[in-house]
Amino acid sequence: MRGRSPMEVLSTFFPAAESFFHANLPMGLTFDDISLATRYSDILPRDANLAVSLSPSLHLQIPILSADMDTVTESAMAIRMALNGGLGLIHYNMSDDAQVKEVARVKNHIHGFIREPITVAADQKIGDVLNRITRKNFRFSTFPVVDESGHLLGLLPGSCVKERYRERSVREAMTPRTGVYAVQQSTIKNNPIEAADHFFTENIGINKLLIVDENDRLCGLFTLSDIERIEDEATRIVKPARDERFRLMCGAAIASHRKADGTLDADRIVEHVGGLVDEGVDAVAVSTAHGFSQGVGDSVRLLREQFPDLTLIAGNVTSAEGVEFLAAAGANTIKVGQGPGSICTTRIVAGVGIPQMTALYVTSRAAAKHGVTILADGGITKSGDIVKALTLADGVICGGLLAGCDEAPGRIMEINGKTYKQYRGMGSRDAMKEGSAARYGHDKKDAISKAAPEGIEALKESVGPLDDVLRELIGGIQSGMGYLGAGDLPTLRTNAHYIRVSPAGQKEAAPHDVITVKASTSQASE
Ligand code: XMP
Repeated sequence: MRGRSPMEVLSTFFPAAESFFHANLPMGLTFDDISLATRYSDILPRDANLAVSLSPSLHLQIPILSADMDTVTESAMAIRMALNGGLGLIHYNMSDDAQVKEVARVKNHIHGFIREPITVAADQKIGDVLNRITRKNFRFSTFPVVDESGHLLGLLPGSCVKERYRERSVREAMTPRTGVYAVQQSTIKNNPIEAADHFFTENIGINKLLIVDENDRLCGLFTLSDIERIEDEATRIVKPARDERFRLMCGAAIASHRKADGTLDADRIVEHVGGLVDEGVDAVAVSTAHGFSQGVGDSVRLLREQFPDLTLIAGNVTSAEGVEFLAAAGANTIKVGQGPGSICTTRIVAGVGIPQMTALYVTSRAAAKHGVTILADGGITKSGDIVKALTLADGVICGGLLAGCDEAPGRIMEINGKTYKQYRGMGSRDAMKEGSAARYGHDKKDAISKAAPEGIEALKESVGPLDDVLRELIGGIQSGMGYLGAGDLPTLRTNAHYIRVSPAGQKEAAPHDVITVKASTSQASE
């Protein structure tokens, strides 16, 4: 080592991507196979900037997308993802119309304004309300009371929703309509947030404002805590992801639909995407298991022709050729990953797929050459994996890490006193039956009889609100950037140097030789 500069020594022991991944050939590597070397740092983790541009028009505050899976992303998840600076990709296991409506919900979301408040009926017993709170895991207990046509009858205060009143009726307990604060929607439409803010300041001690239409039917609800959170937003480092009209950003996934004769159903695809674009969708993902395929290429070309300015995401691929193919077809950002997902069985069923870090290395080099960005899709189980992925990719897509959140649409179940949420692969038999068969190149009817499923049905432990999960993930990413002296994501990529980790090294990397008293959130959810 004598006579060699510290940089030469660093590159010998911990090479940069070019030498590292070549030196490891023909071995394919994934997240736990490697670790990152620390670098000189003059930045504080909390100052690390996570902003990323995935296309000329898609700018996010954090490089995290929620997966287009039917147990991960519908409008509730997409709204919360965008509020945290990321992007939700609405899945396509629903009718085209229903998906357009889901996107509209995100784009029309006024933060703090609950459009479809959970209501109760006057004839219900308090006990029924209590049961529903437990079943649905609600974290609130104050409910507007409405009749069958939605007319506002009163407000059931949380202070009355108690076991001791189980046998009493909602009607007996509610504050009647005359005592409930409500304003007409038409009077606040110019600036609803400001109007609600003003209302709460004026009406000391009131923390719910009900909104009604001209016929006194309930059409929304503001809560004081949400309004205070919005005011908080202005001072936050990571701001929501918003379009140029200040609406939350939202993505949607589609399949390369075919007609009965096997040709691309161009009319359906264009009409569907046209509907999404009319609602203001920010990115459309042609999302399949095999993106380096004629159908995906044709779909991307078609969409690029019809919607020249729309951000197109396409995938999945794991090769340089795949990236080149989709970039030439007109994709802006390309999903990388075949078989790394926590619910995927593609590698077992089809014997196909590349360990994720090697796939990311190969595709990142092709992406740079063709002026597109890439997303690391699948296999991410902790924030450290995201840091490793971001040394090569522009963003990450998470499924399993987010499926236990309150905002994920999966069914909730209780087992031995613990709550879990359903999480299933889009290639699992039941998901394919509901529409995702096209993603795996099968017909919906074949999904029941012929096709081999490439995913499983699973459970994830409930982990609470997405805000908390993202806060931990973002903190972890910023820590990683701090260790690498990277104030932003491009610098993280240039500063990354790698080392292979042996099985003993992997054991050393996790808590060991102690009795765990309290696991961190990411460990607990694995
Ligand atoms: P994680 O690891 O985040 O992975 O749970 C989510 C990603 O996995 C992909 N996906 C599948 N892959 N069979 C597969 O081989 C499946 O059934 C399946 N469902 C989802 C998808 O890319 C997702 O973003």
